Amino acid sequence: MAKKPREHETSDENAHTQPEISIGLVGHVDHGKTTLTEAFTGKWTDTHSEEIKRGITIRLGYADTTFYKCQKCPEPEAYSTDSTCKTCGSKSKLARKVSFIDAPGHESLMATMLSGAAIMDGALLLVAANEACPQPQTKEHLTALQIVGVKSVVIVQNKIDLVAREDALKNHSEIKEFVKGTPYEKAPIVPISAQQRINMDALIQAIQETIPTPERDSSKSPLMFVARSFDVNKPGINPLEMSGGVLGGSIKQGVLRVNDEIEIRPGRRIERAGKITWQPIKTRITGLITGSEHVDSVGPGGSIGVMTTLDPSITKSDALTGSVLGTSDIPPIMNELKLEAFLLERVVGAKDKLVVEPIKLGENLMLNVNSAATVGMVSELQKNTVLCKLKLPVCADKNSRVTISRMIGSRWRLIGYGILK
Ligand code: GTP
Ligand code: MG
Repeated sequence: MAKKPREHETSDENAHTQPEISIGLVGHVDHGKTTLTEAFTGKWTDTHSEEIKRGITIRLGYADTTFYKCQKCPEPEAYSTDSTCKTCGSKSKLARKVSFIDAPGHESLMATMLSGAAIMDGALLLVAANEACPQPQTKEHLTALQIVGVKSVVIVQNKIDLVAREDALKNHSEIKEFVKGTPYEKAPIVPISAQQRINMDALIQAIQETIPTPERDSSKSPLMFVARSFDVNKPGINPLEMSGGVLGGSIKQGVLRVNDEIEIRPGRRIERAGKITWQPIKTRITGLITGSEHVDSVGPGGSIGVMTTLDPSITKSDALTGSVLGTSDIPPIMNELKLEAFLLERVVGAKDKLVVEPIKLGENLMLNVNSAATVGMVSELQKNTVLCKLKLPVCADKNSRVTISRMIGSRWRLIGYGILK
């Protein structure tokens, strides 16, 4: 029998090569974030060449997918990441292209999680059904989302294949109790098994209904937060065939175009006569990658890759992570941050319920702003206003939210946030 023409295939798929949204996967260690990323995005690899090929995965923990919805089948069965409906076999309609940001759950990697949180438009909080809820980083990550202003969250109760129905229900009640009184009180809780691919359709439906694509302002001058940077050349390559440095990240506003002259800040560290300064790096965009495609221009939405004329030694091994990039109106380089600080009552990421002590003069704090992580020494303190001298400068606008972490035991623990003055 002749196949019916595929109505949506060409028009839909070509019209939306850029993912609309970045959705983070957060939660306690081993609760299944990477497994779920794999379940959504298919093949997963960490090699640079493969990451480039797939567009967005030019940094570890980043992968794209497309949600489809069958026009004939009922919800939630209608949803999948396959363009052909698994129930009726007809062609499904493209619903949304999504970039995932897979955050690490280990307690020692809060800085990485916080840098990722800065570029998440929404998030999935993974909770393993076979452990008591909340675990320390379940709490710490949810608090981090709240602090950085990630409003839309779906709670994913994972590993239901490992528990009996009564235990799953008990765990569900624990989750409900845990989010009670937080801004995420009404977040849907979707039971799944990422490993066994159980209930993935209901999860896609919850994401579609709970995490909207934010309104974007592409009229402003472009600004990108750099979350990863690479040298994509294989060792031993002929120097004449070398590719320039590559940056991965998310566009906050505006549109970047191939051939744009851009500036990356804070840039390069320069030491002269014992004095350290930072010099912005200027370069040109030679290619843009989004949703596995090379494109001429790219705006906000999902994770993107920017190819440049830079010497790859400047971009290798995430050397430019935390920088901001743009064509003009880039925020200033700041060597100290003046913050109005708001502290949590208790340290949420530790097993013990420790009270958050006031900030002390001379102490070191970890400060995350945009995708940058730095350490600042408290040099002035007045009521809630704190001045921190930074070990590494950052670029940020006034009124930016800065997360504040303190070394407790041997770990950085989230203790609050500050508003940049
Ligand atoms: P971190 O990134 O280190 O925080 O861990 P993670 O949250 O990414 O967890 P990961 O996906 O690496 O999964 C941890 C372990 O749990 C692996 O052995 C997975 O195979 C297993 N796992 C994940 N999801 C499920 C599930 O739904 N059912 C079962 N039985 N095992 C799962
Ligand atoms: Mg993982």
